[in-house]
Amino acid sequence: MAMTTGGRGNWSGRTGFILAAAGSAVGLGNIWGFPNQVASNGGAAFLIVYTLCCFLVGYPVMVAELSVGRATAKNPVGAFRKLAPGSFIMPLIGFWGVIVGMAILAFYNVIAGWTLSYVLEEFAQFFGSDTTAALLGATDGGIKSAIFALVFMLGTITIVAGGVSGGIERATKTMMPLLIGILLLMTVYVLTRDGSGEGLRQYLLPDFSKINTGLILSALGQAFFSLSLGMGALITYGSYLDRKMNIPQAAGFVTLADFSIAFLAGLLILPAMYVAQSRGVQIVDDSGALIQSTGLVFNVLPELFHQIGGITGLVVGVMFFFLLTIAALTSTISLLEVPVSYLVDEHGMNRKKASILMGAIIGAISLIIAFDPSLIGLFVTIFNNFGLPVGGLMICLFVAYYWKTEKALKEMEDGYEDISGSAFASIWPIFVKFICPLLIALVFLNTLGVI
Ligand code: TRP
Repeated sequence: MAMTTGGRGNWSGRTGFILAAAGSAVGLGNIWGFPNQVASNGGAAFLIVYTLCCFLVGYPVMVAELSVGRATAKNPVGAFRKLAPGSFIMPLIGFWGVIVGMAILAFYNVIAGWTLSYVLEEFAQFFGSDTTAALLGATDGGIKSAIFALVFMLGTITIVAGGVSGGIERATKTMMPLLIGILLLMTVYVLTRDGSGEGLRQYLLPDFSKINTGLILSALGQAFFSLSLGMGALITYGSYLDRKMNIPQAAGFVTLADFSIAFLAGLLILPAMYVAQSRGVQIVDDSGALIQSTGLVFNVLPELFHQIGGITGLVVGVMFFFLLTIAALTSTISLLEVPVSYLVDEHGMNRKKASILMGAIIGAISLIIAFDPSLIGLFVTIFNNFGLPVGGLMICLFVAYYWKTEKALKEMEDGYEDISGSAFASIWPIFVKFICPLLIALVFLNTLGVI
């Protein structure tokens, strides 16, 4: 394949890019975050609003990020430098993305480390070594959390150091089909168990009275995180795109893939909770709310697997945590790639050195968080809930009012020749100029408690 962007690397083709970008999108946000949000936000009502957020807000922003990336063939900082020559302010949007990406990766590593240690915990449980199982199953701060977070960081460094097509693309090409296979198998298994019907009802029968501004804003935040938007990950991935690629279509595939996997994860987790309940596992807390988050993934579900018991329990448990681990790994890759591409492009560092240096810095922050996981909440508030919407808003405003949507559409002509005159060309700018910024601004103001 031709190297159209010099020595930076390139995707080998359309499938490679789509799998890598979908791998970035599909992560703990889909398989853990989304079902949790559905459970705590009134089931199907959340699902409907989330669907709209993905396609009406997420998709247009994804197209914007990919166009900026391909037009400049640069990391986020370099991309804004190139499109706004001489400006001091604009590249800050890219810097913000690099910082937010590093911070998200720092805590993501710790959670991903837990999912990895639970693969082993399931084996320890099966072989009856309770003390080992308890040690591996701990999700409090300490040496065990630290070791697994570092193992995860090392795995990510190894893949990113391998380059765009040789490392990232090759890894995601094997992991994504595996992930989908496991997810489908597990969903079929859970849906055929007693008790799953109630979970399915909660998930699919909407109660429209539950839709309120809080729910809409959570859905939008979740869509942003899940689609990996707002910090330039897709500017970076877009920078390795071939000029023959149809950007609106590729973004459509990625959005659809991410949405479908979240939807499938919902079909697995919500019914699994009720299967667990029918087997005597407690799924509501003292206040009567469904147990969520760490409690759900690391307590309720493992209890279900142990209830199932025997070799089936082992297989199901190991498969589930392995699924979470690979989903997390395809995402941590994209989070590390952003700061690495920055060092490679802007400081002329070679990729291997850049991966190790950035990995070491981020790993050090992960260590601090691994010893005090209560910091995760703080990081989520600052970088997910605040950092991503702010980044997304700035990217939108930049494309809409500085670079201009006409130029972005011109960039998209390569790979989509008859774009001018298409419905896409008349609708997309409206979303980038008005609808997306307005909705993102609302999320942001809500996060700040202003509305
Ligand atoms: N989308 C991933 C998930 O759902 C997380 C992620 C990876 C991410 N890269 C990102 C989030 C970039 C925001 C920005 O788990």
